Amino acid sequence: MTEPAAAPIGVFDSGMGGLTVLRALRAALPGEDFLYLGDTARLPYGTKSPDTVQRYAVQAARILVERGIKALVVACNTASAVALDALTERYAPLPVFGVVEPGAEAAAALSGRGRVLVLATESTVRGGAYQRALLARRPGLTVLARPCPLLVALAEEGRHAGPLVDLALADYLRGMLPGDRGAVSSVLLGCTHFPVFRPALEAILGRDGATVVDSAETTAAALARRVGGADLPAARGGAGRLSLLATDGAERFRRVGRYFLGEPIPSVELVDL
Ligand code: DGL
Repeated sequence: MTEPAAAPIGVFDSGMGGLTVLRALRAALPGEDFLYLGDTARLPYGTKSPDTVQRYAVQAARILVERGIKALVVACNTASAVALDALTERYAPLPVFGVVEPGAEAAAALSGRGRVLVLATESTVRGGAYQRALLARRPGLTVLARPCPLLVALAEEGRHAGPLVDLALADYLRGMLPGDRGAVSSVLLGCTHFPVFRPALEAILGRDGATVVDSAETTAAALARRVGGADLPAARGGAGRLSLLATDGAERFRRVGRYFLGEPIPSVELVDL
């Protein structure tokens, strides 16, 4: 059996979007090995029922657990929102991390008594996990949430900037931009795909507009604080290695995934859940 310190950290998502979380994790923990699974055959999770997402999440996590990981990061916001407790219970004592709590923590800390807008998938918005996590930390906040399915589609197409992106963002933020009566003070990116739109979003919000909070970055920071602790030993030196698994479309994963990961993708192993 692999010694815990030398084992990789498992990361899973419904597809390629979670590579934005992996990118942040690798930047925060450059010495760690990562094993990533994208369930591309069953994407999107964001329009499916909580029961289905939970079942898929348990199956996806099982593959990683069977290969020997020392921690699991649920990069998918939709799965974090509905399946985190089920995963934590089923795979205990494996440390399991979701993206919702760290994202909410950072947005609540920044937002005072302001108005926070959560941009996410339909299921994440409907389940209300971000809304609850934000209000639990700051009951004085006004929390708004908008499902943005078009942004997932645009990101998957590799369109991260340009007129279509600006149109979609302007529409999703209608009435909440600086100068509007409903202007928000922060925007929380509650979906794996949305960090790629950060430059376009910040341009629309303007210099004095809302602060953008990226749950990928805050999750990476939360994990980095835990690595090296008693239940999660750190890797022992050397540059971290990366292995990638997908359930469908290895070629597309390599081609489009590089824009989410921010570096070329060497190889992708196809697996069946
Ligand atoms: N990974 C999903 C999330 O972060 C977005 C894509 C999907 O709907 O599966 O919510």
